[in-house]
Amino acid sequence: MTDFYAVIGNPVAHSKSPLIHAEFARQTGQDIHYEAILAPMDAFAATIAGFRARGGKGVNVTVPFKLEACRISTRLTERAEAAEAANTLAFDARGIFGDNTDGAGLLRDIVANLKFSLTGKQVLLMGAGGAARGVVLPLLEHNPCLLTVANRTRQKADALQQRFSRYGNIVSAGYDDLGGTKFDLVINATSASLDGKLPALPSGIFSSASLAYDMMYGNGHTPFLQFAKQQGAGRLADGIGMLVEQAAESFFLWRGLRPRTESVIEMLGSHGAIR
Ligand code: ATR
Repeated sequence: MTDFYAVIGNPVAHSKSPLIHAEFARQTGQDIHYEAILAPMDAFAATIAGFRARGGKGVNVTVPFKLEACRISTRLTERAEAAEAANTLAFDARGIFGDNTDGAGLLRDIVANLKFSLTGKQVLLMGAGGAARGVVLPLLEHNPCLLTVANRTRQKADALQQRFSRYGNIVSAGYDDLGGTKFDLVINATSASLDGKLPALPSGIFSSASLAYDMMYGNGHTPFLQFAKQQGAGRLADGIGMLVEQAAESFFLWRGLRPRTESVIEMLGSHGAIR
């Protein structure tokens, strides 16, 4: 019997998740069908209910429904609770189990694929919205020397700092405060790239040993990766690796099997990012 899964978002037509999960299923010999479902902005819960009624076993949730996915879950993992957002739901007789695999996906890409250790490093996280909140805890778990969270709206960075300070060394900042520090790892978790924009980063924060990581991806280098390259960052990566790794973590939650990711990342192409 084929098991049904889906990615639910709005918009969702551009999603690469059906392709990724079809590849995971082929590779592991799992009998699943995975589709993309467009949910009306005001009908996420109803769309989930409809999919469950059709026998759906689980979904990935994307923009803008991750917060709502968290709210409708009857049980949550600690990492989904910390992120206040769920990107993966699994359905069973007991209800809706909500998880968030985004942070684990990012860290797996950085540490295992890109072979970059965070221990003792200066790390800068740009942004303080949902995408940033989902990765703070896993970043701190890798024991950076200091995690600096910078945001255009300073109060949101301050709030993240306060929320996560018991988990490790974390400070908040505005972009103006960053001059004079070199960061080993700079992660762009803002949505600025979507508008072709770049947060107001000062010059001189990258060195030839720095890894610049954009959680977004697109055709060619994002404005952030272009800036990092001009500024002399030694390594660049876009969010394709994170996308594939968060999908692998969801697949593991649903099927209990860990697919190989390297060939899938290669297949999707990392748009010239240096890997
Ligand atoms: P997401 O779920 O993608 O994180 P979000 O919660 O709306 O979306 O957060 C968007 C993030 O991108 C915020 O940190 C936002 O900064 P503000 O809190 O100051 O709004 C950041 N962002 C978006 N466009 C930006 C830009 N042009 N320059 C700097 N930061 C930007």
